[in-house]
Amino acid sequence: MTFTAAPALSGSVAVPGDKSISHRSLMLSALAVGESRVEGLLEGEDVLATAAAMRAMGADIERDADGIWHIHGVGVGGLLQPETALDMGNSGTSTRLLMGLLASHDLTATFTGDASLSKRPMARVTEPLARMGASFTTSPGDRLPLTMRGACPAVPLDYRLPVASAQVKSAILLAGLNTPGITRVVEPIPTRDHSERMLRGFGAELDVEVEADETRIITLVGEAELKPQQIVVPGDPSSAAFPMVAALLVPGSQVTIANVGLNKTRAGLIDLLREMGGSIEVINPREVGGEPVGDLAVTASALKGVEPDPARAPSMIDEYPVAFIAAALAQGRSVFRGLEELRVKESDRIATMAAGLRAIGVTVEELEDGIIIEGSGGAPLAGGGPIATKLDHRIAMSFAVAGLVSRDGVMIDDMAPVATSFPTFVPLLRTLGALA
Ligand code: S3P
Repeated sequence: MTFTAAPALSGSVAVPGDKSISHRSLMLSALAVGESRVEGLLEGEDVLATAAAMRAMGADIERDADGIWHIHGVGVGGLLQPETALDMGNSGTSTRLLMGLLASHDLTATFTGDASLSKRPMARVTEPLARMGASFTTSPGDRLPLTMRGACPAVPLDYRLPVASAQVKSAILLAGLNTPGITRVVEPIPTRDHSERMLRGFGAELDVEVEADETRIITLVGEAELKPQQIVVPGDPSSAAFPMVAALLVPGSQVTIANVGLNKTRAGLIDLLREMGGSIEVINPREVGGEPVGDLAVTASALKGVEPDPARAPSMIDEYPVAFIAAALAQGRSVFRGLEELRVKESDRIATMAAGLRAIGVTVEELEDGIIIEGSGGAPLAGGGPIATKLDHRIAMSFAVAGLVSRDGVMIDDMAPVATSFPTFVPLLRTLGALA
């Protein structure tokens, strides 16, 4: 698919539900006794992989005609042995969080995934979960396909996170749910806290202590009983990032993105774009389902280059690809560092973005832990392609945005991965007037 120079974008749109919150709402509902209802669930392939896995282990999950999801859980400790391998598709979050859940259940499960997921490192979860008693037979390099055997009873763990990863933190907390005693995770750099918020919402005894240096100490009392909940999932800030950057870059644009999650562990891109000179206004801030939410009014703006503090990385970890597109249109040079984690996402996002940016005429220097980008000062990018998206939804959407501000258009080799997180991406661009 080719994306070409767009006229000014306008209108009001809403993005689909938050992917992180959607996964967690299905998993915790599947462990509560009774019926939970989830509204605004992201119906993307990644979340549907989680739903299929929870069904395969005994949960009853139905979507009604109004789009509300009804989940009857099996109770903590009540998951059943799945009869076949759990196919995780492209979804690292499904894989790592479910490995945590299963680590304290007396069952054996095999996890498989697509070519992208099968390259991603799993030692970051198998290592702490093995300390809790689970055992793993992995493919070379601690990768998928892998088979695990959970331990029941598992041994509670006291663990200091060696990487800033909400997936690792969440895997350990989910394992702790069916483990006797207290599971403790020490998080030196804060990451998204949806698991903590939702575990509390479901009635788990979870405490968070924040030390003077921002280290977070999370304790969970095991053998928890979860009570069914009614959940409203806010719009995904990681999906809102694409229309937000598009509206800043396409001259004359004025766009509203309704109902976007604004949890501060996720809102780093908004801060960064504002520092670059972007006009983004939060309208009607409110709380929905225990998460801060607002509508974003975005006005096209001239941007300037930045050198963002690497400490901000976890709060915008999935937004770097589209932030690199913003930098490519900014005035001057941007230097991004401290981003080693981007190399183990759905693709190696430093290498994939560097190659794609070069292919559309941007001068970049790839660093081991980041990238240096020379901005065009607002002049359209040359364009070109095809861009190799490497089964990575966010690479596809980032270069689609670049196409809207290009001279010759940007061709994307494969838009199919967009269905993992943002199935309505192309129709949404059409609503804004971005597509011919
Ligand atoms: C996620 C955590 C992040 C993020 C991913 C979703 C989550 O991964 O990149 O898209 O829902 O916990 P890491 O924990 O690997 O940083």
